Amino acid sequence: MAITIVISGKLEPMSSSFLAHEAAGPRASAPPVQPLLTPFRMGDLSLRNRVVMAPLTRMRAHPDNHVPTALQAEYYAQRAGGGLIVAEATAISPEGFGWADTPGLWSKEQVRGWRLVTDAVHKAGGHIVAQLWHTGAMSHPELRDGTLPVSASDVDPGQVSVTRDGRKPTVAPRPLTSEEIRTTIRDYAQAARNAVDAGFDGVQILANYLYLIAQFLNTATNRRTDEYGGSMENRTRFLFEVLESVLVEVEANRVGIKISPMHEANAFAANDETLPTIDYAVTRLNDYGLSHLLLMGNTTDFSGTPLEKLTGDGMFEHFRPIYRGALIANVNMTQERGNRLIKAGLADLVAFGRPYIANPDLVERFGSSAPLADVDWSTVYASGPKGYSDYPAHMLSAQ
Ligand SMILES: Cc1cc2nc3c(=O)[nH]c(=O)nc-3n(C[C@H](O)[C@H](O)[C@H](O)COP(=O)(O)O)c2cc1C
Repeated sequence: MAITIVISGKLEPMSSSFLAHEAAGPRASAPPVQPLLTPFRMGDLSLRNRVVMAPLTRMRAHPDNHVPTALQAEYYAQRAGGGLIVAEATAISPEGFGWADTPGLWSKEQVRGWRLVTDAVHKAGGHIVAQLWHTGAMSHPELRDGTLPVSASDVDPGQVSVTRDGRKPTVAPRPLTSEEIRTTIRDYAQAARNAVDAGFDGVQILANYLYLIAQFLNTATNRRTDEYGGSMENRTRFLFEVLESVLVEVEANRVGIKISPMHEANAFAANDETLPTIDYAVTRLNDYGLSHLLLMGNTTDFSGTPLEKLTGDGMFEHFRPIYRGALIANVNMTQERGNRLIKAGLADLVAFGRPYIANPDLVERFGSSAPLADVDWSTVYASGPKGYSDYPAHMLSAQ
C-alpha cells in the first residue's frame, strides 16, 4: 500500500546521487565498519546487518485468489541481502482485503504461495516477516462484492481506495459490531498462524497509516461509545486485543509492530490526541517483549500541527527514550543518515522502502559506496517483472 505517500506524491523519489560524497576521496585500505552493516540480534533472530527492507505493496499477487507468485519469490530473494525483509502488507481475511492485486494470508493456496517466497529468501540467507493488514475503511465496495467496508465507526476517512478499475474515493464504512470485532481479532491470530505455516520468521502487525487499527486509534474515525471508543485506553483496546491474540500463536520475540503518529488529509489530520495516544500505546508495548517496533518518521509536513517537534530526527529522539525494545527507524533514510542514527543510539536498525525498489543489492551498494539506481515510478504498481524483478545488481567495474 504505498500508501498515500505515492498516491499524493508527497515524497519525492530519492536522489540517485546521495552517496556521491561517500565515494569521493582516497580509499583507506580497511574502511571503517559502518554501523548499518554490523550484525544485530532481534528477538531470537541473528540478523547479518541492520538494513531492513520496509514493507512495499507492489500489486503483483494473483488478482482473483490473492496468492503470491513465483515472480514475488524471485523479487524478494533478490533483496535478501538485508538483515530483515518486512513483506508487503497482506490481508488477514477477505473482510480485511482492500487493495487490488495485493496478497492474502487466509487460504491454503495463499500459504503455499508465500512458502515459495519464504523458501527463496531463506535459501538466499535472509529473514522475512509477514505484515498483517486489515484495511477497514480504506477498502471499497468494488473490492467487496458491493458491500460496505467496515471500520470502528461510519466515518468516511476521505482517502483513496485502489480498486481494480483504478483509484476511487473512499466511502462511509459500516461500524463493526462487538461480535465482528471478536471475529476480526481471531482472524489476526489465524493469519499469524498461517504466516508461521508459510515459513515466515515472524509477523509485523500494521498499526499505523490509515488502516483498521489506526481507524480505532484515531478520535476522528472512532466515535464508538462502547469499550472500544472514547478514552485512550478504549481506543487502544482493539490494538492490544489483536496483539494478545497474535501472541497466542507466535512467540513475542517473533512479533513486531509498525506504529507511529501521522498527519494526513481529512479524517487523519493530526489532532491533540494523536501523539498522546501513540505515546500511551508505545509505552504499553514495552510490557510484551516484542521483536521490534518499526517507526515511520514524518512523510508529510508537520509544521503547525501538534506533531511539529517530531519532524525529521525528532520522531526518533521522542520515541527512543520511550520504547525499550529494538527500534527500526524509517522514512527518507540514506546510508549516511542510517549510520548516524544507529551511532547516536536513536535506532537499532534502519528500514529503506523506496531505495529497495530499484536497488535489490542495496546492502552491497552501501558496502562499496556504489551509486543508487532511480525508481521507474510508472512500473511500481504495474504487473509482471518489468520494474519489479528486472532491476540489475550494481556491477563493480575494474577491480
Ligand atoms: C510503493 C510503496 C508501497 C508501500 N507499501 C507499504 C506496505 O505494504 N506496508 C506498509 O506498512 N508501508 C508501505 N509503504 C511505506 C514504506 O514501508 C515506508 O514506510 C515508506 O516508503 C518510507 O520509507 P522510504 O522513505 O525509505 O521510502 C509503501 C511505500 C511505497 C513507496
